[in-house]
Amino acid sequence: MAETFLVTGGAGFVGSHCVLALLARGHRVIVLDDLSTGHAAAVPEAAVLVRGRADDPEALRRVFALGPIDGVLHFAALSLVGDSMREPYRYMAENARVGLALIEAAVAHGVTRFVLSSTAALFGNPRRIPIDEDEPIDPGSPYGESKAWLERALLWAERIHGLKSASLRYFNAAGADPEGRLGEDHRPETHLIPLVLDAVAGRRPPLTVFGDDYDTPDGTCIRDYIHVADLATAHLLALEAIRERSVRYNLGNGQGHSVREVIAAAERVTGRKVPHVIGPRRPGDPPALVASSDRIRRELGWTPRFPDLDTIIAHAWAWRQANPDGYGSRASAAASGPGMAR
Ligand code: UFG
Repeated sequence: MAETFLVTGGAGFVGSHCVLALLARGHRVIVLDDLSTGHAAAVPEAAVLVRGRADDPEALRRVFALGPIDGVLHFAALSLVGDSMREPYRYMAENARVGLALIEAAVAHGVTRFVLSSTAALFGNPRRIPIDEDEPIDPGSPYGESKAWLERALLWAERIHGLKSASLRYFNAAGADPEGRLGEDHRPETHLIPLVLDAVAGRRPPLTVFGDDYDTPDGTCIRDYIHVADLATAHLLALEAIRERSVRYNLGNGQGHSVREVIAAAERVTGRKVPHVIGPRRPGDPPALVASSDRIRRELGWTPRFPDLDTIIAHAWAWRQANPDGYGSRASAAASGPGMAR
C-alpha cells in the first residue's frame, strides 16, 4: 500500500538513495533538508523537497501541513567522526537538538514509525569482531555519542508515546546507485573511497593513509564497507518490521577491509595506480569496525545484493566518471530560494 514518508537529510548520500527506494515502491516522499551538505539535485523529481532544518518549527509546520505522514526516516545530522573530535559540543548539541525536535514533532502529529540513521561509531573499542547487537554501546567519538543519545531518546518515545522505531547502525556506507542515478558527493569529501577514486583520476592530491601502525594485519584501519543500495533495502524492511515492534540492527557485510585493501581493490577496478602517502593517525578512528548483520538477515530476511568490495567501488567509480563534478552546478541551480517545495 502506498504510504507517505518524511525523509530528513534526503538530499544527502544515504538519504537520497533511500528516497529512490521508497519511490520505487510507489510511496510518496517528502524530503526535509537544509541543503547545508546535501544537494537538491540528489532529490529525485518525484519527491517533494522542503528546504529547512528538522529542528525549525516553521519548517516542521510546513512539512506536516502536507498531509498525514506514515513514518519518518531521520538522516539529517553532522556525521564526521574526525570533525566531532574537534567540535565535540557542536556535534553533540546539534545532533541531539535536531533529533529530539523531530521525534517530538513526529509524536505530536501522530506518527507511529521512526527510523534513525545510526552508526557503527556507537562502538569505540569493541570487545568482539564482528560486532553484534549485544555489544555494549561505548562510543569512541562525540559523533557516536550523539547517536547513542538519540537511540536512547527513542526508547523513551516508545515508552511514553508508543512510537515504534528502528535504529540502523550503518558501518561504512559506500558505492552508488547501480543504475547511475545517484552517487556520493560530500563537500568537503572526507570518506575513503571517493578520495581514493579522485586521487586515481588526478582530481585531488595523493590519498593520505591515516596511520599504518594500528594493531591490524597490515597496520591500516579495517572497516566494513556496505553498498548504499543495500542500506536502502534495509530501511524498507525495517519500516515494515516496526509496525509490530522496535528494532536495532548493525548493518554491514560482516567483512572487514583495510585501507590498503581498499587501495588494492580500487587499482583492480580502475586499472590505475592509487597515488598515496602514509600520514599520522586521525583522532577518533577505531582500529577495526566490522558488523555482524546476522540479526537483520535472520529476522527480516535482509540479503545484501552487492557485498563485494570491487562491485561497491565499481559503482562509485562509474558514477564519478559520469559526474566528475558530482552534483556540480546542478546542485546550486536547483536549490534556489529558501523554503522551496516542488
Ligand atoms: N581514511 C584514510 N584517509 C583518508 C580518509 C579515510 O586513511 O583520507 C581511512 C580512515 O582512517 C578510516 C577509513 O579510511 O580508517 C574509513 O574512513 P572514512 O572517513 O571513509 O569513514 P569512517 O570509518 O571514519 O566513518 C564512517 C562514517 C561515519 C560512521 C563510521 C562508522 O563517515 O559516519 O563510518 O564506521 F560513523
